[in-house]
Amino acid sequence: MKVLVTGGLGFIGSHTVVELQNQGFEVVIVDDLSNSSLTVLDGISKITGKTPAFEKLDLREKSKVQDFFKRHADISGVIHFAASKAVGESIENPLLYYENNICALVYLLQELQKKSQANLIFSSSCTVYGQAEKMPITEDAPVQQAMSPYGNTKQIGEEIISDVAKVSGINAILLRYFNPIGAHPSAEIGELPIGIPQNLVPFITQTAIGLRKELSVFGDDYPTTDGTCIRDYIHVVDLAKAHVVALQRLIEKKNAEKIETFNVGTGTGSSVLEVIQTFEKVSNQKLPYKIVGRREGDITVAYANTDKANTVLGWKSKSTLEEALASAWKWEQKIRS
Ligand code: NAD
Ligand code: WQD
Repeated sequence: MKVLVTGGLGFIGSHTVVELQNQGFEVVIVDDLSNSSLTVLDGISKITGKTPAFEKLDLREKSKVQDFFKRHADISGVIHFAASKAVGESIENPLLYYENNICALVYLLQELQKKSQANLIFSSSCTVYGQAEKMPITEDAPVQQAMSPYGNTKQIGEEIISDVAKVSGINAILLRYFNPIGAHPSAEIGELPIGIPQNLVPFITQTAIGLRKELSVFGDDYPTTDGTCIRDYIHVVDLAKAHVVALQRLIEKKNAEKIETFNVGTGTGSSVLEVIQTFEKVSNQKLPYKIVGRREGDITVAYANTDKANTVLGWKSKSTLEEALASAWKWEQKIRS
């Protein structure tokens, strides 16, 4: 079974390619390398013993997308990771985000719509819930006004896919990721943030390795047990496995609806201070940090109700926060050695 993985050299994509290859899928990656490196292919090969097919392609180039599908008529499923993902950058340059995350999706759907049937997995985000009223968050919680153009592209992306699925042979699963962290336990692949990390865990590991002086904790006056924000941090390998079972569900036509939506998280919330303490434990070192003011746009708390993914997909996250942070730390140490 041949699977197209767009953005397959990125953080989540590369871990998913590993799990797909482990399950015997033949993978073709397209990536424009805007936020990744060709060396990721070596890491995937080292782990799985197989180098996936790769084409450098910018999905914003419609004619190239058309040409790709002409050459690969035998694709059984598409996992669409390729997107820009920096919230702050999306506020500064919204059109970059609307072009990369929306135009590219439209071009992809135009090709999938030509087929009598097609299977698509879309990378969505818990950001669509905004600050949900009830915890843990279920899939039927209302989608709220997006707080950034990035978040808006995920909401619009979900809507576009739903509209197109209604009038085509496309079946899709929308996976709403909570906070992916960690790296493959082999430390052959992991997260490669460009510049100063915006996300908590890469900032922590870069601080611990000495690249950053100290971590700023954005606010300790939230209405939570220790005053810091709470998130659902999921090991990227667990997240990757969710894609494989979702794809199998579509290929085996087990989906109950043309569009299905699943939260992908652990179901447990951890505060920023808990993440720091757990990191200190697994790395056996003190992390320099200071409390600063709140970061604009941060929500207080978000963690998933994962019952639907557990029962319908038969998927459950397995790794603990300790394991996820230990893998992130092992990866940071390896890339700086
Ligand atoms: P990433 O940046 O590591 O991976 C995205 C990959 O897509 C990169 O390799 C990049 O080079 C490629 N790409 C970007 N634009 C492209 C284009 N026009 N054509 C071809 N390739 C292109 O990001 P990630 O963290 O792996 O995220 C993957 C997906 O998951 C994204 O859609 C992101 O929005 C979504 N998501 C990520 C998170 C997170 O916290 N990492 C959370 C929720 C959802
Ligand atoms: C986690 C917690 C921060 C950095 C973002 C996107 C979201 C999604 C995932 C894709 C928060 C705190 C962070 C730091 C800190 N991506 N923090 N100091 O904010 O949940 O979500 O990434 O869809 O759309 O908004 O993740 O890792 O940035 O922050 O104190 O230097 O860590 O305030 O409470 P977030 P994060």
